[in-house]
Amino acid sequence: MVYLYKLSALYASLLKLLGYERGIGRFIDKLTLDCPKHLRILDVGCGSGIVGLQFLERFPGATLLATDLEPNFLKETLATARHRGIDVARVEVGVSDISEPHRVRYLDGRTETLADKSFDIVTVGGVMGYSKDQKKSIKALLRLIKPGGYLINLEMNESVVGKFVATTYKCRAMPLAMMCGYIEGTGHRVTVVPFTHSNFPANLTRIGIVARVIASEQDQASDLSPAHESAPPYGAESDLDYSM
Ligand SMILES: C[S@@+](CC[C@H](N)C(=O)[O-])C[C@H]1O[C@@H](n2cnc3c(N)ncnc32)[C@H](O)[C@@H]1O
Repeated sequence: MVYLYKLSALYASLLKLLGYERGIGRFIDKLTLDCPKHLRILDVGCGSGIVGLQFLERFPGATLLATDLEPNFLKETLATARHRGIDVARVEVGVSDISEPHRVRYLDGRTETLADKSFDIVTVGGVMGYSKDQKKSIKALLRLIKPGGYLINLEMNESVVGKFVATTYKCRAMPLAMMCGYIEGTGHRVTVVPFTHSNFPANLTRIGIVARVIASEQDQASDLSPAHESAPPYGAESDLDYSM
């Protein structure tokens, strides 16, 4: 595990001081999304919560389940919410592994298997590279999304800086073209949304991958058997194993 992840308060302060939180916030606020008023959001690998909490600020009728492997980050997410003046009653937190994002253990010890089609937005940021099986994780995340909902991945980009930071954080996501191709192969429309200079410094390391689950394709999402997967249009499968 990355040492800085144990120092969640320091990690959160650094993101704020460096302007990273503001850059991510601007990106989320500019995304074109068609969502119901009372939406339910899941942020997997939430860290200090900057992604999920930004969605809560953008959508005042929303509630958030923020999960992370590290319980200290869950406390940090609640602290960030309080600091940003967000009602913590809108935020639930629990421990979960991106390898099995539907299994959650809440801080009071309760466990839950999240139901299929129960979130309007499922978001991940810089966390897919920690999955033991990234394709399995993507499938599991897509299953959790309601028809019309979105998978929004603020992934590490493939610039020199993005790759350097990802390596430093031991985060090894599959190549982006392969990830997009894989999601499209499961019947979902994918849009790649670049970060721009207005998102600085987050534009140095991140890229947005937005997939919409439309109603007619949701049937495919609910049965994501290999028979439904087509070859990735963005490039051939590599021999490399991108799992950790
Ligand atoms: C680079 S940080 C990203 C935090 C936040 N999503 C963001 O975009 O700023 C990666 C986060 O993933 C969490 N993480 C690491 N391994 C994980 C795993 N196997 N399952 C879930 N979360 C994990 C870390 O604890 C950390 O909070």
